[in-house]
Amino acid sequence: MNRNLKELISQMTLEEKAGMCSGLDFWHLKGVERLGIPSVMVSDGPHGLRKQDEKGDHLGINDSIKAVCFPPAVLSACSFDRELMHTFGDAIGKEAQANDLSVVLGPAVNIKRSPLCGRNFEYYSEDPYLAGETAAAFIQGVQEHHVGTSIKHFAANNQEYNRMSCSSNADERTLREIYLPAFETAVKKSQPYTVMCSYNKVNGTFASENPWLLTDVLRDEWGFEGYVMSDWGAVNERAAGLKAGLELEMPGSGGVNDQEIIAAVKNNTLDEAVLDQAVERILRIIFEYADHREVREFTLEADHALAKKIAEESMVLLKNDSVLPLSEEEKIVFVGEFASRPRYQGGGSSHINSFRVSSVLDQVSNLPNVTYVKGFSCTDDVYEEALAKEAVEACKQADKVVIFAGLPDSFESEGYDRRHMRLPDCQNRVIKEILALQPDTIVVLHNGSPVEMPWLDDVKGLLEAYLGGQAVGEAVADLLFGRVNPSGKLAETIPYKLSDNPSHLSFGDGENVEYREGIFVGYRYYDAKEMPVAFPFGYGLSYTTFTYSNLKLDKKEMSDDGSITVTVDVTNTGTMEGREIVQLYVHDLTGAARRPLKELKGYEKLSLKPGETKTASFTLDYRSFAWYNTKLQDWYAASGDYEILIAASSKDIRLSEKIHLTTKKVLPLNIHANTTLGELLSDPRTERFGLEFKNRMDQLFGSGSEKDEQNENADKAVSDDMSMAMIASMPIRNVLNFGLYSKDEFDKLLNELNKIK
Ligand code: BGC
Repeated sequence: MNRNLKELISQMTLEEKAGMCSGLDFWHLKGVERLGIPSVMVSDGPHGLRKQDEKGDHLGINDSIKAVCFPPAVLSACSFDRELMHTFGDAIGKEAQANDLSVVLGPAVNIKRSPLCGRNFEYYSEDPYLAGETAAAFIQGVQEHHVGTSIKHFAANNQEYNRMSCSSNADERTLREIYLPAFETAVKKSQPYTVMCSYNKVNGTFASENPWLLTDVLRDEWGFEGYVMSDWGAVNERAAGLKAGLELEMPGSGGVNDQEIIAAVKNNTLDEAVLDQAVERILRIIFEYADHREVREFTLEADHALAKKIAEESMVLLKNDSVLPLSEEEKIVFVGEFASRPRYQGGGSSHINSFRVSSVLDQVSNLPNVTYVKGFSCTDDVYEEALAKEAVEACKQADKVVIFAGLPDSFESEGYDRRHMRLPDCQNRVIKEILALQPDTIVVLHNGSPVEMPWLDDVKGLLEAYLGGQAVGEAVADLLFGRVNPSGKLAETIPYKLSDNPSHLSFGDGENVEYREGIFVGYRYYDAKEMPVAFPFGYGLSYTTFTYSNLKLDKKEMSDDGSITVTVDVTNTGTMEGREIVQLYVHDLTGAARRPLKELKGYEKLSLKPGETKTASFTLDYRSFAWYNTKLQDWYAASGDYEILIAASSKDIRLSEKIHLTTKKVLPLNIHANTTLGELLSDPRTERFGLEFKNRMDQLFGSGSEKDEQNENADKAVSDDMSMAMIASMPIRNVLNFGLYSKDEFDKLLNELNKIK
């Protein structure tokens, strides 16, 4: 329906308009009955619906409707599968339509800066490209049903400690390259109906009243068309928020902030046009939903099956020294209470009231050769000698042992960060005791964020199940017994220990959190430091093997507005059908800026039968090679060579090719008395001035050819390179200091230099 929203708004009172800018209650927006504006509902997710019918809360305390708990983001991102994420979104969109929900609050795309963040399980990745692509696909799936999403938490919300007041302090390049692009990609590709601003401040200004973030970047640069809502309770100064670009406050503030808006309009500190625009943006989304109410059929059963599929396409096989897959004929002992009570989702506002949960133990009840011993509890960290003894005894007799370990709920949740990266001590102890006498041991992990694994060298198999959603047991069983071939890869690095993490010395500090590691987050840091890690970003095994060949580039030269198509063949060289995630990274060889050694710029997932070959294809544009240049206030890739790396993980480069890029973008010159000669010499626009200065320097200090005998020895000690380096670091004003130019001559030159474009 084509609605004239401006006309509708002109009929609203000031009070009604201010009222539209905050919630009616915890989950509803206000309606205006006399004008036919309905009151619509929003609800948490996003890996299922947390629709609360009665008592609302944002902490996951009170019950919600029975729903399907799909795998949380920590796991689904490991699928590296846009199509699957689209299907996932499609199911959520249908469920939301059927349950009369106008917006699902997610996906959450904050970058995993540290393994300690209590909400990492809700976030996709340490890599902004993967997080952005994953979110964009999910959002498209949901919104095809005219149900909105609320991509969150915008922005730089990477810890839970003091989350409602701390300031995430990062330089602009870091924000642009690491913490913002997932939002940018999703906005540009999928136009989420809404964006949820985060609780924290960004460089000292609350996200909820940050005009740079909410208007300059989000709307003016990226072209966001929906409305911004606050995280629950994130509003500080309401009128300042509205001016900055925060349209909707959630939940309501009991009317207090509506009054603030009214007062601000009345005393002329807030232009009513700003309020009108906010209301228009909110109404457009309300009607986008309300005008497209559709009968959507879904069944919990079918969505449970989809939850299983997503889990099995995403879980990551990390180690397999010929112990997996298991065979039903083998005598197998399952150890650990997670086998009967799996941890499959995290705590807080995303907590789903699952209609069913499958444990791995349920799945093997028909297999007489599989037995179970508890070994340790899944809810606390208490070593129980009797349980441990029983487990060790049982394992002695087995062909193989599978230990189901993980983090108890209390170890990680929304609202607080982890203090360390360890599993409960009791679990590590039991694992070690079993390994002492049973070499054929496999560990399955249930965790929302990486753990240290002191026993890693001694286990033969390791499956990272993360938090698997309600069908976790079926997925794990099918992967262990080889009914499904593992095909997930890590969306984050697993470091050996917490102190290896780049944010280690500045994570979670008081009111001001300094992002000192800058752009070097995750593999960008471990690569640059040449630091060994337990498992690198992008890593994951399969029961089959793949070879890469025939890397082709449709051209080797590219300019600003061009693009390059890269293709590579992948062959399944094993005996089982499988899926391979092919990754493309770009390595900047120009030396124009300090950059990571490689950055993910493409990925494809291919399904291959034994012996089959398929071609993965990627398109790269200027942005794929660029970094954010703050002088230019834009993305910039210098002219020069770049390497395109085709990889099976961030550490497993299979093929590479160089390309040459030529850009017309020129960096602004800002020349002053302290600009160095080196800077002049390195820029073609100023090189001749640099050479002139250098000549005069050489004349003053003497150049190689005119040295007398006496100076020869001293001269040998100073090589040409060394003197060049010294000259390069001299500020231009030195030509005055050393009397090479008169003041007049110098001022004239500076003037001339400043005219160069
Ligand atoms: C969380 C959001 C959530 C909201 C509503 C907040 O505490 O940070 O992610 O959507 O509550 O439950």
